[in-house]
Amino acid sequence: MSILIKNGRIVTAVDDYVADVFIEGEKVTLIGKDLKVQADKVIDAKDRLVLPGGIDPHTHFDMPFGGTTSADDFASGTKAAAFGGTTTVIDFAIQSKGESTLKGLDAWHDKASGKATIDYAFHMIITDMPDERLPEMRKLADEGVTSYKLFMAYPGVLYVDDGTLYRTFRQAGDNGTRICMHAENGIVIDEIIKAAVKDGKTSPKYHALTRPTRMEAEGVHRAISIAEVAKVPLYIVHLSSSDALEQVKMGRARGVDVIAETCPQYLFLDQSYYEREGFEGAKWVMTPALREKWNQDELWQGLKFRDLETIATDHCPFCFKDQKEMGKDSFTKIPNGAPGVENRMSLVYNGGVVSGRISLNRFVELTSTAAAKAFGLFPKKGTIAVGSDADIVIFDPNRKETISVNNPHTHHMRVDYSAYEGFEVQGFTETVLSRGRVIIEKNELKTERGGQFIKRALCGSLLR
Ligand code: URP
Ligand code: ZN
Ligand code: ZN
Ligand code: ZN
Repeated sequence: MSILIKNGRIVTAVDDYVADVFIEGEKVTLIGKDLKVQADKVIDAKDRLVLPGGIDPHTHFDMPFGGTTSADDFASGTKAAAFGGTTTVIDFAIQSKGESTLKGLDAWHDKASGKATIDYAFHMIITDMPDERLPEMRKLADEGVTSYKLFMAYPGVLYVDDGTLYRTFRQAGDNGTRICMHAENGIVIDEIIKAAVKDGKTSPKYHALTRPTRMEAEGVHRAISIAEVAKVPLYIVHLSSSDALEQVKMGRARGVDVIAETCPQYLFLDQSYYEREGFEGAKWVMTPALREKWNQDELWQGLKFRDLETIATDHCPFCFKDQKEMGKDSFTKIPNGAPGVENRMSLVYNGGVVSGRISLNRFVELTSTAAAKAFGLFPKKGTIAVGSDADIVIFDPNRKETISVNNPHTHHMRVDYSAYEGFEVQGFTETVLSRGRVIIEKNELKTERGGQFIKRALCGSLLR
């Protein structure tokens, strides 16, 4: 099968020009002006942007968490991602405490295999890493799992102590792999939560009020210090606050190999959402919590000046009915997380490019290229170039949509609310190719499944 995409404006992290893209099989094989080639299918992309498919390096499909399981599985979640212009996700396999990480990886392969519409990879969530288990980390890397997430939050669940952090960081550094860190001082936060609950402070807003930004900043500071000593490249996930960003800047200023991710929720939503009437605030109970609005400008500044390097969603949806409602009597029982995998590209294009905060090239870098480089997917993914996978999004920069759980164009996620209900966005995904297959054409699903597990290369350094 060959496809010719004609007359589009090709935008990568560094390029911006009008040309044709020729695809044979899974790969881009030719790019040029007015290509004279025979193609099985021709797509006219005049007045459209032709972008590298989005890469969302932080999703949680089919994840057991908070006494329930995230509402999207690998079938529904990857389909929704595709509609939104994302062609690769990096999800998280989880090690059960005391068990083999490789067994955890197998379990996640079983969850995903044969279901995904787009390509996917895994980070490994490490919950336990005694010395004798350290050699498994090399095996994981051989299996294409070249980054590991560890948690300073959620004591008794995913939390690991500083000794485990150090051991794991050392091994990851030696192996040429990367550490992803959920940086929040969960031990102190748990004490704050206990005191709040004792005082009868149990409504959703106390989720935010018991997780001060200083405790996020402390976690970031500690992670950076340990990574510096252990000599491992570090990636701070879902950074939410100015206080935490300050720590990233300080680490980078002294030469530590640390990059950080933020998410649309921290750029577009704020703590006032928890003040919604009744129990509605539960929809935005996620960790880290939404912050005071002024933090948003600081995060945009961080994106512009490259202290923040990627925008991921941390898509972890729970239905309001029955799932979020588990915490009706106490915010501590609300499963943490929110949906967003489908809305990322439009939100960031609208809030970043249309609003004049970032350039079009930076938009591509933040939503695709930087994640590919940080996590061993580049140049297979994250750009449009001869030899790269034909993961391509044809994007209408002018089309407007109102994001809503009731808008069939913006909501394919299997969850009963939208975190961005009523947001009007300009810029919308129209047609999507995944390794040369047209999966979405003019906003209609054409091919399901066919997504593959991608073994990632080592991702040891910022320079890869
Ligand atoms: O609230 C969140 N973020 N849920 C998903 C788990 C995590 O910490 O990333
Ligand atoms: Zn996290
Ligand atoms: Zn997460
Ligand atoms: Zn519409």
